[in-house]
Amino acid sequence: MISTLLSRRGGTDGAPARRFVYGADYNPEQWPRDVWEEDVRLMREAGVNLVSLGIFSWARLQPAEDTWDFAWLDEVMDLLHAGGIGVDLATATASPPPWLTTAHPEILPVTATGETLWPGARQHWRPTSPVFRTYALRLVRELATRYADHPALVAWHVNNELGCHNVYDYSDDAARAFRDWLRARYTTLDALNHAWGTAFWSQHYTDWEQILPPRLAASHPNPTQQLDFKRFSSDALKDHLRAEREILRELTPDVPVTTNFMVTGNTKGMNYDDWATEVDFVANDHYVHPGPQDRDELSFSANLTSGIAGGRPWFLMEHSTSAVNWQPVNVPKRPGELARDALLHVAHGADAVCFFQWRQSAAGAEKYHSAMVPHAGADSELFRAVVELGATLRTLAPVAGSEREPARVGILFDWDSWWASEQDSHPTSLLEYRQEALDWYSALLALGIRADLVTTRADLHRHQVLIAPVLHVVPADLAKSLTRYAEQGGHLITTYFSGIVDENDHVWLGGYPGALRELLGIRIEEFGPLLAGDTVELDDATTGSLWTDRIEVTSPETEVLARYRTGEHTGRPAVTRRATNGGSAAYVSTRLGVDGLTVLLPRLLGPAGVESELPAAARGSVELTVRSRDSERFLFLVNRTDRTVEVPGLPGDVLLGGTGADGTLVLGPRAVAVLRQPAG
Ligand code: GAL
Repeated sequence: MISTLLSRRGGTDGAPARRFVYGADYNPEQWPRDVWEEDVRLMREAGVNLVSLGIFSWARLQPAEDTWDFAWLDEVMDLLHAGGIGVDLATATASPPPWLTTAHPEILPVTATGETLWPGARQHWRPTSPVFRTYALRLVRELATRYADHPALVAWHVNNELGCHNVYDYSDDAARAFRDWLRARYTTLDALNHAWGTAFWSQHYTDWEQILPPRLAASHPNPTQQLDFKRFSSDALKDHLRAEREILRELTPDVPVTTNFMVTGNTKGMNYDDWATEVDFVANDHYVHPGPQDRDELSFSANLTSGIAGGRPWFLMEHSTSAVNWQPVNVPKRPGELARDALLHVAHGADAVCFFQWRQSAAGAEKYHSAMVPHAGADSELFRAVVELGATLRTLAPVAGSEREPARVGILFDWDSWWASEQDSHPTSLLEYRQEALDWYSALLALGIRADLVTTRADLHRHQVLIAPVLHVVPADLAKSLTRYAEQGGHLITTYFSGIVDENDHVWLGGYPGALRELLGIRIEEFGPLLAGDTVELDDATTGSLWTDRIEVTSPETEVLARYRTGEHTGRPAVTRRATNGGSAAYVSTRLGVDGLTVLLPRLLGPAGVESELPAAARGSVELTVRSRDSERFLFLVNRTDRTVEVPGLPGDVLLGGTGADGTLVLGPRAVAVLRQPAG
């Protein structure tokens, strides 16, 4: 859908139907009229074929309750269309204008401590405010009516990064909506009291009106209340997305609707796996958070986005050409990183490469955030790199529309487990769910082994090996499907603090890890978390941190792969594996980190026969991904290092990249190559 987006309404510039989308958020209201003409000229020079327009334009479009001003947007839409540039038109509801918040301060969000989040920045609205909803939907209706037949319109962009700043609202509106949500989930107060375990600490409810969001309390709020509030908050935003979408579908049924997700860094409030089916195509925003695993994290996020998109192409709605403005220190990208970062998203299934934003602002909070046209203007290294990337994407046009070819290894990522495992009053507050999954991913990258991030919605049987790090929440049906997976020949690998609770955050009794105890053939009576800085040695020369378990082997089919060599559990099992019916179920009881997992993984993958598909010389230095369609497959080879890497022996035509005299693929520092092979 994305690769043909621009031609679906008859084409804007006569270009071939299958191609990559290239562009940015465009904020013309920040610039005088004469800059708009130059913008379109430069966009054409860069190969930009789509912009997201109007994202923060509410105050400009509706300067007062009954005053509308569309003339400027008409003109911009016409100019873009004349330049052959399609428009992903925002519904402009992300930042309510001052006249609205002055007239209706009751739309402003409230924190857990009762403070109001005042206007002056953006996204200062309660997801559950009926007043906000009415005004927002009126704006959506006006926009959709006016631009329904505009030839530049190719997609709708609902709001912007729903929940970026306002996911958790503890206002009275939220309290009311939370109660409705709970009524729908539990039907009776008895069921809620049971699920929340309110027999504890005298929390028994006798009336729905007594229930509140988990506002600042004297001690730890009820854990299931906290977990349900997270689920509710994600659903409340999803409900807003649906409400806008329904108007758009009513008025423009042929225009696809999306909204930009934030599968990036530690953004965890929105369950995007659950939202993915609400949009016509998945769109994501990603920003690099500098650190030792920063590009692994980029790859991880792109991979997870592909997973929630069901392996189909998705839309990279925002990333940065260089520095951002919102980190403590905002380091620019180094030469080659602009293209490499963008193409790593493409390697994981993106059919669109867009940036925040087109032209770097001269004023406002984001004036030091990079853009496609920097403060220095078009005569700049950055703009030349932008033009070059546009040309590269044209070269890669045959790839557009292809899907992700499943890898033999899957890594299971689960929002409920993320939310629940990091709650308070746990054995340790040092556990970071996403980091755990990222460490396994990094270790696989270091070994040159392809893996797909997947969620519980996916067909788990597509993968010979399924790694489920800290799969903390395991309802009975998930326990059954994981057991079936391993009993039917799949190789399951899981870790400490997995299989511990059900969907109500109630512990599975009888010994840990309750839900997976039989499958793993082990039993644990007490957790052994480690203090920060403490470590244990294993007899396979790896080192554990964060967690240990006192494991009792309970099945004759369970073998011990590694034992503790130091610490409280010296001599006892640290890593186990139970042979199932042609498959296996392995358990890793301590945090081995990327280095330790790189040592352990080959042993865990051995029974499944999974090895790197890369030539030995490239393993670790090069990331391999595969996109394919019926007749052909595309191998993306991404140089993860700052040095030149040679990749010998891979068949295929070189679509992107260079070769040495003997045909060996030569990847310069941070370079990306793409090979085309016939499928099958
Ligand atoms: C995103 C947002 C953009 C811009 C960008 C800066 O969160 O959607 O509007 O603020 O970050 O990195």
